[in-house]
Amino acid sequence: MHIHRPNDPTVGTVVENRSCTAGRKAASFVHHLVIDVSNTNLAGRFRVGQAFGVIPPGTTEHGKPHKVRLYSIACPTGGEDGTGNLLATTVKRTIDEHTEDGRLFLGVASNYLCDLKPGDKVHLTGPAGKRFLLPAAPEEHDYAFFATGTGIAPFRGMVLELLAAGVKSSIVLAMGSPYATDLLYDEEFTRLAAEHDNFTYLTALSRQPQADNTPAVYVQGRLETHRDLFRSVLESPRGLVYCCGLAGMEVGVIQQLAKALSPEAFGRFVKAAPEIAAEPEAWTRRMIPRALSPTRRMFLEVY
Ligand code: A2P
Repeated sequence: MHIHRPNDPTVGTVVENRSCTAGRKAASFVHHLVIDVSNTNLAGRFRVGQAFGVIPPGTTEHGKPHKVRLYSIACPTGGEDGTGNLLATTVKRTIDEHTEDGRLFLGVASNYLCDLKPGDKVHLTGPAGKRFLLPAAPEEHDYAFFATGTGIAPFRGMVLELLAAGVKSSIVLAMGSPYATDLLYDEEFTRLAAEHDNFTYLTALSRQPQADNTPAVYVQGRLETHRDLFRSVLESPRGLVYCCGLAGMEVGVIQQLAKALSPEAFGRFVKAAPEIAAEPEAWTRRMIPRALSPTRRMFLEVY
């Protein structure tokens, strides 16, 4: 970790910058950015699940250098091509309004990154993160991955890594987005699921009916609609749960795990304090991590 700190960044070179969505009708703009870090100290020294830092050029409106922003690594540990030289991430343009006066607000780092062209140089730090990782013996576990939006980034890397290694474990990826047009890496996951019997790709659209005409659903709702599938992965002591994305999904996933799994299996992922154990409906985010404490089999990366 922290091979390059903010006062000593390294320089990578952009090699690819493309959209992560299939058509042009997505509600937001999300890019897959690939950066060449060959001949830097980052080459071969990052792991899937970690993040790296980006220092945007220029200064803030107060004349200070911009601070580091962390971006999740979206490629396997070996990078995009297995050589450890090509680092990838998933960047969503921040386009918003100032709360005080309603003026347009453009996020500094995300728009800088999304505008980059092949050949452009980027100041990088990191890697960072020591908790949201794959286990040391991947084939000894089965996986349920839950993502909302750009929270898909680490799971793209993890799924590619597990499948490329020939791991026979069951892997279920559930991805939540507002509309079908906003699904990220959808073609890639659809293809991987068709090629690998042990990989299931589920989508959850929150603002429109699903492809099979069932109603809008949040990603954790898949624990209800696909209960048998998730039980096959998570009832055994091999199961691991990973969540990445919006902070609100955390308690949602925990509630649905409590409903979908036996108390014994649920208890392997989350310890619920006795006074609240019987009331999943009443659980709130503020109860994490005291009253609802995730165990070492549950990995949360929310923002
Ligand atoms: P919605 O915005 O319809 O409420 P994106 O980052 O592309 O906006 O996608 C984030 C997805 O996560 C959206 O589908 C969003 O739904 C959904 N979402 C919002 N809040 C929660 C929550 N508490 N639990 C799970 N998913 C959520």
